[in-house]
Amino acid sequence: MEEFSGIEPSYISKDGCRLIWRGIDEDDQDVIVLSKDELDHLVELLSKESTGKIELEDEFSTILVNTDTTQFQLKERKMLEVKTSVLRKKILEYRKVPHEPKPIKIYSKEFFPSIIIENEGEEEEDRNKFLNTVLTAKNKTAISEGDLFRIMSTRRSTRNFDTSRFVEQWKVDKILAAADTAPTAGNFQGFEVFYIKNREIKKRLVEAANNQPYVNAPLVLVFCMDPSRVKMNFPPETLAKFSLQDATLAAAYSQLAASALGLSSIWIGMIAEEKVKQIINTNLRPTSILCIGYPNQKRPPKSRRKLKELVRVIE
Ligand SMILES: Cc1cc2nc3c(=O)[nH]c(=O)nc-3n(C[C@H](O)[C@H](O)[C@H](O)COP(=O)(O)O)c2cc1C
Repeated sequence: MEEFSGIEPSYISKDGCRLIWRGIDEDDQDVIVLSKDELDHLVELLSKESTGKIELEDEFSTILVNTDTTQFQLKERKMLEVKTSVLRKKILEYRKVPHEPKPIKIYSKEFFPSIIIENEGEEEEDRNKFLNTVLTAKNKTAISEGDLFRIMSTRRSTRNFDTSRFVEQWKVDKILAAADTAPTAGNFQGFEVFYIKNREIKKRLVEAANNQPYVNAPLVLVFCMDPSRVKMNFPPETLAKFSLQDATLAAAYSQLAASALGLSSIWIGMIAEEKVKQIINTNLRPTSILCIGYPNQKRPPKSRRKLKELVRVIE
């Protein structure tokens, strides 16, 4: 499969260009020559971030510019593809057209766990039944999840995920359900979790987290405070503190659940809050990003100070 590799001037078409795709072998390449008019048309579509179709002058080929992918349909049903964002960047740079990419806006939507439960009603009892079913559901590949202390004593953060392995949906369900079992102030559950599936959004979260590349992990959860849920008659600072603790505890429960499921994680606290809010389109303050996946390498836990240095006794 050829990969788009760049743009060069065309020797046969003045002010046109050559778009190049390279294969695995060095001399294996496909080239599409665009005339000046064809290139102008493409520049116009890409700079306006619109979509469209360009018929090439050879009368066989067409370019289909879509939001995500641009396809070049050529003679004898051959087709070449490139991500539209990559093509836009290269073409506009080539033509020296100033361009600021529009940040994508995505609205979060409802989460549907992979487990479907009959009679999942609004009654408190039903909701608990639902959580219980998700948390205790066994899967064919289930590992022993039982021993909380073993899980605690063997957990080790990872910043090196096996990005070729995704996290199974039933594990995602459990990790999210675990967050929902954490204690919260007044049981008002003053937090919200954003489950990031979108690849572009993950990449933007990397930037918002001081360019920590492992934020682009197989499973990315952003934990946010929601003090408006905490219906207690206390000053706003107290409600903010409660919701910060709620969101933090929930993330910690999810992190332990991930370990119990044979996954590794990294807790990201180094985040530019305003950027994260903008990226995930929320007014809620993010507290941490939990990045989860299979580690490339399992490592033993880090050492800690002695318990006697940690604990002060008041008798
Ligand atoms: C509040 C908090 C903030 C953290 N922020 C980051 C971070 O931004 N980037 C990072 O790589 N690790 C971050 N970590 C992960 C810690 O570095 C890691 O948990 C610590 O070194 C202990 O290692 P362990 O989790 O393997 O026991 C954070 C952890 C916590 C609890």
